[in-house]
Amino acid sequence: MSARGTATFRASAQAYDRHIGRYGGPLARALCDAAGVGRGQRALDVGCGPGALAAELVARLGADAVVAVDPSPPFVDGCRERLPGVEVQLAPAEGLPFEAAAFDVALAQLVVNFMTDARAGLGEMLRVTRPGGVVGAAVWDYAGEMTLLRRFWDAAVALDPAAAALDEGTTMAFCSPGELEDLWSDAGLREVDVAATTVRAGYTGFDDLWGALEAGVGPSGAYVVGLDADGRAALADELRRRLDVGAAPFELAARAWTVTGVRP
Ligand SMILES: C[S@@+](CC[C@H](N)C(=O)[O-])C[C@H]1O[C@@H](n2cnc3c(N)ncnc32)[C@H](O)[C@@H]1O
Repeated sequence: MSARGTATFRASAQAYDRHIGRYGGPLARALCDAAGVGRGQRALDVGCGPGALAAELVARLGADAVVAVDPSPPFVDGCRERLPGVEVQLAPAEGLPFEAAAFDVALAQLVVNFMTDARAGLGEMLRVTRPGGVVGAAVWDYAGEMTLLRRFWDAAVALDPAAAALDEGTTMAFCSPGELEDLWSDAGLREVDVAATTVRAGYTGFDDLWGALEAGVGPSGAYVVGLDADGRAALADELRRRLDVGAAPFELAARAWTVTGVRP
């Protein structure tokens, strides 16, 4: 597992919920729709985190038809607590502890770009999916219209050009439609389909958004906790200015790419 993939996700489920987790429910519905998830299927959630996608799978399939894995111990604990009856295991995508063809559908929400070896992880997702089953994923449009993270890194780089080396818009692989299509096709998946989906999340005010970043979750949160007090204050001001928000409630839009393919 890469440091990038795991180190910034050893946070509590609650801390994750306040940051990226806000967007998880609507994104899970879009991914499940794209993958055609419906009654009678058995599904795997790879990189489940605290369980946003697994919860949507449970709503559609029932808890006994859903299995989830993640390499982060606090997230595995959080997912188990939230979704009784779901089998949740501590494991990375690159080493799935399941028999071949055990699932009708294998999905990974906001995970492919964090995998140590995305090709190996996807290969494992194919192996555990039955022929004719669906393998799918969703990733943020970090370089474009994932508003929160795009504005965050733009603000960080404006204050400190060295932050460009950490900007998820340039550092994250497999976060453009072309890369995803190639990754899925090269793995041998058929009927590959890439689509854009936009979801929204609400905030009670800027402090609600900023407090979530100060919990240190994900690359953006890790960057914030690495700053001194003056650096944090300057970044908070710059981000608030770029988002053009204040103490009143607001919503942000976030575009993701979904990719699905059928296992031959
Ligand atoms: C942005 S979170 C997404 C969590 C959840 N799927 C969601 O949509 O809320 C990224 C997740 O990928 C997990 N992860 C990191 N490296 C991984 C790997 N190699 N295999 C599987 N999951 C991994 C992290 O532990 C974290 O839970």
